[in-house]
Amino acid sequence: MSKTKTVASLLFTLLLVHVRFCNSNCVCDETLNGKLRSIGQKQQQEDPCQTKTRVVGDVEYCDRYWECVNGRPELFDCPNGLVFAGKHRGVTEGCDYPWRANYCEGKRQANPPIQAEHCDWLYGIFGHETSCTRYWTCWNGTATEQLCIGGLLYNERSRSCDWPENVEGCQKHPLCNDDPNGNVPLGKSCNRYWQCQGGYPRLQRCPAMLVFDRRSLRCVVPPTEDCDVPPTPAGYDGELGPDGNAQEPEEENLPPGVSPLPPQVSNNNNHNANQQLRGHQNHQQHQQNHQLQQQQQRNRT
Ligand SMILES: *[C@@H]1O[C@H](CO)[C@@H](O)[C@H](O)[C@H]1NC(C)=O
Repeated sequence: MSKTKTVASLLFTLLLVHVRFCNSNCVCDETLNGKLRSIGQKQQQEDPCQTKTRVVGDVEYCDRYWECVNGRPELFDCPNGLVFAGKHRGVTEGCDYPWRANYCEGKRQANPPIQAEHCDWLYGIFGHETSCTRYWTCWNGTATEQLCIGGLLYNERSRSCDWPENVEGCQKHPLCNDDPNGNVPLGKSCNRYWQCQGGYPRLQRCPAMLVFDRRSLRCVVPPTEDCDVPPTPAGYDGELGPDGNAQEPEEENLPPGVSPLPPQVSNNNNHNANQQLRGHQNHQQHQQNHQLQQQQQRNRT
């Protein structure tokens, strides 16, 4: 009786082992099998051909992924400088800038940087060599110079334009070079201007009925040389001039999603959200530019 029990239990165990083995190892491709062997028990490489998206990240390297091609798993590298984010995610080919999420947590990058002029990697966003208001976006090794507008400076950490007090080593904005505590005209605006406070520019608006005088750098009673139009009367909160046209094109100097004034400490989360939004928009803009360039190239050939 006990002998039968032992044999039955042994058979059951063997069956279990067999089922397990088959589930995890029934992969046709040699490379993936090699991968499974080399990683051993640590963590197992998922087979892309067994997934709905047919694409999975490599278990070991964050800049590699497996794709099911003609029913077999094939290994691919992300474009240099990018890491795998997931199908239809990231900036191109399912790959993204590594700093946009914790893609590489617990993983390594298989490929070393390939450098190009102004680019630490072929793809990425990199600081400017000589300027705090400029930075480079690199796409396949082609660098495009970008400019931070308004009073913003390039922040290496967030990879986007940011308020000067958040940008280490670049606190003073060139806007305030002439006078760290002076006022600076803002574009052609008649009632907005920059007020430098210890080298940081702050966006200001003249009190109602006053206009900013570019000569005295103060808010004065109109008319001035450039502003004879009476500003919007008190209580009227529109941005339209008497002719019904928008009067403040200089608003465009601020990137979308940037609040006109640096937020208070309590608004920090909001601010971070703005930064992310901005990074995203920068990136989208960049991608559009890139696509346009590619289109133009195709048209030429
Ligand atoms: C990147 O540039 C190289 C030449 O510098 C070119 O051969 C390659 O096709 C480009 N790749 C993409 C994805 O545009």
